[in-house]
Amino acid sequence: MDGIIFCSNTGFSRRYGQALSEKTGIPVFNLYDSQTLSQGADVVFVGWLFGGFIQGLKEAKKRYNVRAVCAVGMSTAGVLSMEELKKKNFLTDTPLFYLQGGFFMENLHGIHKFFLMILKHTLGKSLLKKENPTPADKESIKMFFEGADFFNEDNLSEVVAFLKS
Ligand SMILES: Cc1cc2nc3c(=O)[nH]c(=O)nc-3n(C[C@H](O)[C@H](O)[C@H](O)COP(=O)(O)O)c2cc1C
Repeated sequence: MDGIIFCSNTGFSRRYGQALSEKTGIPVFNLYDSQTLSQGADVVFVGWLFGGFIQGLKEAKKRYNVRAVCAVGMSTAGVLSMEELKKKNFLTDTPLFYLQGGFFMENLHGIHKFFLMILKHTLGKSLLKKENPTPADKESIKMFFEGADFFNEDNLSEVVAFLKS
């Protein structure tokens, strides 16, 4: 593998990309930096989720041979259907891994903040009214109303094993 390429809005995907680089020795690059790898290089792509779409993946696929993908989102691992995520992002034959990031409303701007404010006032408030919230509901409530950082290097174990195999 020639490199790890990340696309990050608030830093979680960058941190996962950097941690993956430390664990595997594969160099890491920002998708939008000019000094990246040559066209067609074999890469692992790490990108954040926006409405179920992995940001930056389309650009990365145009430049590189994307051999594996890590999607970074706010959802609790296991809640999202990996099959649906694969389908939505045209990843039928590419291994896909999910990494939970987090978010802080104060780190968002413009349309991203607007989108999350709407979610907070709709989904967030309905979760607050739930009688028996699940652990995943509690995580969502924390993210919407306080902000939360669920970055954990241990989440990388599957992708590290894949890269070392
Ligand atoms: C506008 C917007 C849309 C989002 N859509 C999703 C989503 O569809 N699924 C998900 O799990 N997380 C979603 N998130 C949460 C981000 O993917 C999450 O905060 C992630 O950790 C951000 O990574 P980054 O810090 O690398 O930008 C969304 C966040 C924003 C701001």
